[in-house]
Amino acid sequence: MAPLEQVLKAFLEGGGKVIDTAPSYGDAEAVSGELVKRAGGRGKVFLATKVSSTGLDAGLRQIEASFAALQTDKIDLIQVHNLQDTATQLKLLRELKEQGRIRYIGITHYVESAHDDLLAVLAKEKVDFVQVNYSIGARNAEKRLLPYCADKGIATLINRTYEAGRLFAKVKGKALPAWAQSELDATSWAQLMLKFVLANPAVTTVIPATSQPKYMLDNLLAGQGRLPNAQQLQRIAAEFA
Ligand SMILES: NC(=O)c1ccc[n+]([C@@H]2O[C@H](COP(=O)([O-])OP(=O)(O)OC[C@H]3O[C@@H](n4cnc5c(N)ncnc54)[C@H](OP(=O)(O)O)[C@@H]3O)[C@@H](O)[C@H]2O)c1
Repeated sequence: MAPLEQVLKAFLEGGGKVIDTAPSYGDAEAVSGELVKRAGGRGKVFLATKVSSTGLDAGLRQIEASFAALQTDKIDLIQVHNLQDTATQLKLLRELKEQGRIRYIGITHYVESAHDDLLAVLAKEKVDFVQVNYSIGARNAEKRLLPYCADKGIATLINRTYEAGRLFAKVKGKALPAWAQSELDATSWAQLMLKFVLANPAVTTVIPATSQPKYMLDNLLAGQGRLPNAQQLQRIAAEFA
């Protein structure tokens, strides 16, 4: 818990708001709930979790367990995880939203092959948030899904901004170009990768994962300074080609 406590401290002190977790991430909900409580973060963080069940009863049981693990009586956002039993779980989430137990509902996925499925759900169902993968190395979301969300006023959470860490291998041993700092106020490859994603007007927030305080401090810096324009986006992408 000690390093994670430091991660959360850096996150809150740096103005971080959104914590995304899930019942299927081992102890993550319980750990997040306990650490947010210890850090006095209640009411300051936006808590997002997921439901990954089949059937109304199983979904409700899982969601009640999330409330208990997160030690809260209000969850900001619950998302249908990887489109599992989507129609049934969205119905349940809408009921909970009407009861005031959750503020927003959403759907998630993490692979490009599911983007068409996400769009098909959005054509039928009204949701507040879509969580999807988007990065310098996986740009499919910018073609149709992100513009669709912007057009319909749907908020977006972006996962896999580092492709689970794999994107760092593409620039291993390579010096950060001088223009990263002089033009975009970025002092690391990580900040450049996040700024690439944040520059898309359809992106509401990014949720890079880390267990290390030094990475959290690094990631938070992407929230400051200038964002790339179209020509600078091309230059960033060329560095990762
Ligand atoms: N289907 C879904 O709904 C779904 C699927 C995947 C992910 N997610 C969400 O997205 C979040 C992000 O996870 P992800 O899988 O997409 O991974 P990611 O954020 O693309 O990458 C995480 C990896 O990057 C490393 N890292 C983080 N910051 C760094 C920095 N500044 N410098 C160097 N390395 C850094 C981490 O290392 P350390 O571990 O050493 O810190 C970790 O190995 C998850 O926590 C989850 O909330 C949702």
